[in-house]
Amino acid sequence: QHILVLHGPNLNLLGTREPEVYGRHTLADINQRLQQIAADNGAQCATFQSNHEGGLVDRIQAASQDQTDFIIINAAAYTHTSVALRDALAGVDIPYVEVHLSNVHQRESFRHHSYLADKARGVITGLGPYGYEAALCFALAN
Ligand code: DQA
Repeated sequence: QHILVLHGPNLNLLGTREPEVYGRHTLADINQRLQQIAADNGAQCATFQSNHEGGLVDRIQAASQDQTDFIIINAAAYTHTSVALRDALAGVDIPYVEVHLSNVHQRESFRHHSYLADKARGVITGLGPYGYEAALCFALAN
C-alpha cells in the first residue's frame, strides 16, 4: 500500500509556529512517526510539504503515476481558498482524508469552510498530530 501525506503552507514551521495552537511537534517528528507506523504495517508512506499551491497540485497529479492508493492532506490555509487543490484531488480520483491539527470550528469563521471536505472520505480536526495517525490507520485498514 502506498500512502501520500501532503502538508500545505507554513506547516514547515511546526514546533515554533503558534505552539499554543499547533503544539510543539515538528513536521519531521510527525512524518517520522507516520513512516514508522506505515513500515510496521508493511506499507509505504511518502510525505511532501509545500508553501506553494502549484507545488501541491503538481504532487497530487504525480500521485496518479506513482501507485498512490490513498492521500492524507492538511492543506493548511489553502483548505479555505483553493479550488485548484479540490480540482486536482478530483482529477486523480484517489481517496483522501482531510486533517487539521487545530479544531478549525473553534476558530475564525473563514476557517469553517473547506473546499476539500465534501469530497473527502472524512475530516479530522482538532486532534493534533494524532489526527494524521488516525487517518493513516484508516487508510491502512481500507
Ligand atoms: C490548519 C488550520 C488552517 O486553518 C490553518 O490555515 C493552518 C493549519 C491546521 O492544521 O489546524 O495553517 O490546517
